[in-house]
Amino acid sequence: MAEAAVLEGSNSPAPADDASLKPFTVTLIIRRFDSEFDDEPRWVDYDVELFATDRILDALHKIKWEQDGSLSFRRSCAHGVCGSDAMRINGRNRLACKTLIKDLDISKPIYVEAIKGLPLEKDLIVDMEPFFASYREVQPFLQASGKPEKERIQSVAQRERFDDTTKCILCAACTSSCPVFWTDGQYFGPAAIVNAHRFIFDSRDEAAQVRLDILNDKEGVWRCRTTFNCSEACPRGIEVTKAIAEVKAAVLRGKPDVPKSDLVSA
Ligand code: SF4
Ligand code: F3S
Ligand code: FES
Repeated sequence: MAEAAVLEGSNSPAPADDASLKPFTVTLIIRRFDSEFDDEPRWVDYDVELFATDRILDALHKIKWEQDGSLSFRRSCAHGVCGSDAMRINGRNRLACKTLIKDLDISKPIYVEAIKGLPLEKDLIVDMEPFFASYREVQPFLQASGKPEKERIQSVAQRERFDDTTKCILCAACTSSCPVFWTDGQYFGPAAIVNAHRFIFDSRDEAAQVRLDILNDKEGVWRCRTTFNCSEACPRGIEVTKAIAEVKAAVLRGKPDVPKSDLVSA
C-alpha cells in the first residue's frame, strides 16, 4: 500500500482531497510587444492550469512551453538570486520567481508587464544598459592601497555598517519603481546609490570621497524625493531609502569615522 504524503512541518498525513493539491485555472493578462509586428504594446489573455504553490515564473514557463513559444522574458536562477526576472505583477515590481500564486488574488486576472522607465525591447524584456551604466559610474568595487601580508581585517561592527547594501542582486525593481527615474532617465537611481553605499561605508575602501563627489551631481542623491517606492519594491528587503539618506548625510558631512572601539588594525 502506498504511504500517505506528510505535509511539510507537520506529522499529520495530507488529506487525500486537499484543495491545495489540485490545479486550478488562472488568467494572466500579459503586455506583449514585438517591434517586428506591433506599433504599440498589446494586452493578451492566457488561461493556465496552476497549483497554489506555483510561482508567476512557472506560469510564464507553462505559457511559453504549451501555448506560445514566442513569449519572451528573462530568467536564470529561478530562486531569487540572479535578479533577472523583475517585472510588474498587478502593478507592483516583483521577481516572478519569488511571487507565489497563492499570495495573489486569483479571483481576478493577474496583470504582468515589463518594468517601467527602461526602453522596452520585447514583451517582458527591457534594455538594462542605462541601469548598468549608472551602476558602473559609482565605481562599485573596493579601492584600497597597500598590500597587506594577509587579509584586510575588519571588525564585526565595521562589517555590519554596510551589511544591508551587500544584499543587492541588481534586479532594478527599485530604480524602475522610482517616479523620479520615470520622469528623468538621467537620475542615477536608487540601485546605483545602494551600490555606492556598499563601498562608501566599507572601512577598507579609500575612494568614498570620489563616489560622494559623483553622487553630489544634479542627477545624484539630491534628485531623490524620499517617496519610498524603492524600499517597498526591493525583493531583498534592503532599506533603500535609508541607504540613500545615509549617502546624502555623507555628502554633506563626509564619511563618518568608525568608533575607536570598533577599529581593527590590519
Ligand atoms: Fe533590486 Fe533591491 Fe538591489 Fe534595487 S536594491 S536592484 S530592488 S536588490
Ligand atoms: Fe525614488 Fe526611492 Fe527616492 S523611489 S524618490 S529613490 S526614496
Ligand atoms: Fe533569478 Fe528570479 S530568475 S532572481
